[in-house]
Amino acid sequence: MNGGGTVTRILILYGTTDGHTAKIAGFVADRLRALGAGVEVFNAATSNPDPTAYAGIIVAASVHAGGYQRSVVHWVRAHAQTEVMRGARTAFLSVCLGILEKNPKVMADLTAIKSAFIARTGWTPTQFKIVAGALPYTRYGWIKRVIMRRIARKAGGATDTAHDHEYTDWLDLRAFAEKCYSLWTPKTEPNASCETGSACSCASGAIPMRSRVLARSGGALPG
Ligand SMILES: Cc1cc2nc3c(=O)[nH]c(=O)nc-3n(C[C@H](O)[C@H](O)[C@H](O)COP(=O)(O)O)c2cc1C
Repeated sequence: MNGGGTVTRILILYGTTDGHTAKIAGFVADRLRALGAGVEVFNAATSNPDPTAYAGIIVAASVHAGGYQRSVVHWVRAHAQTEVMRGARTAFLSVCLGILEKNPKVMADLTAIKSAFIARTGWTPTQFKIVAGALPYTRYGWIKRVIMRRIARKAGGATDTAHDHEYTDWLDLRAFAEKCYSLWTPKTEPNASCETGSACSCASGAIPMRSRVLARSGGALPG
């Protein structure tokens, strides 16, 4: 299903340290594909995709010790001046746990992390969304597990290190994907010369009547 528009090609570039942002990137990609977009997903640590082949760009990265993955910063800085990155169809997903604290000081830190990213890369995404991440204790080594448990206790997060804990609001992320799709997909306008109204294929994404007339007449519109 394509909502009456032409297929929009979207690039999702992500950085991850413990795997959760990869899961988020995959989730957004699946939702966009279900809507009819053509989506390709790349890990910035292992790929250097060319953004100019796409109509829309989503970058996702997670916050670790006050900054995003270096591979994401490098890729964004390298491509920040391309037309698509300077255009309106861009979004950044900032994955972190600080958002859960609802603490003004932590929120100010997250804003400073965003500002530092924009200053380092020269790229200002049209949409910027903070997404709550995860505490995958079972994937941490023991030192990281102890440190993260201590941080989580202070922040009011889960301290049961025998299990992984996910805080991502998947419904909200689904709404984000749907918003990107609806803002980024060119719509086929119902044709003014079509008199069959809503039953016409103009509104369903098939070739509009005016185009069919053009095709039949070799390009010249009848007067
Ligand atoms: C070592 C470490 C440092 C972190 N530092 C921060 C931080 O400074 N601010 C924050 O909000 N979240 C921080 N987090 C939480 C991560 O952003 C969160 O766990 C996220 O889901 C990680 O995503 P990833 O699995 O894609 O790397 C940190 C997590 C770890 C393990």
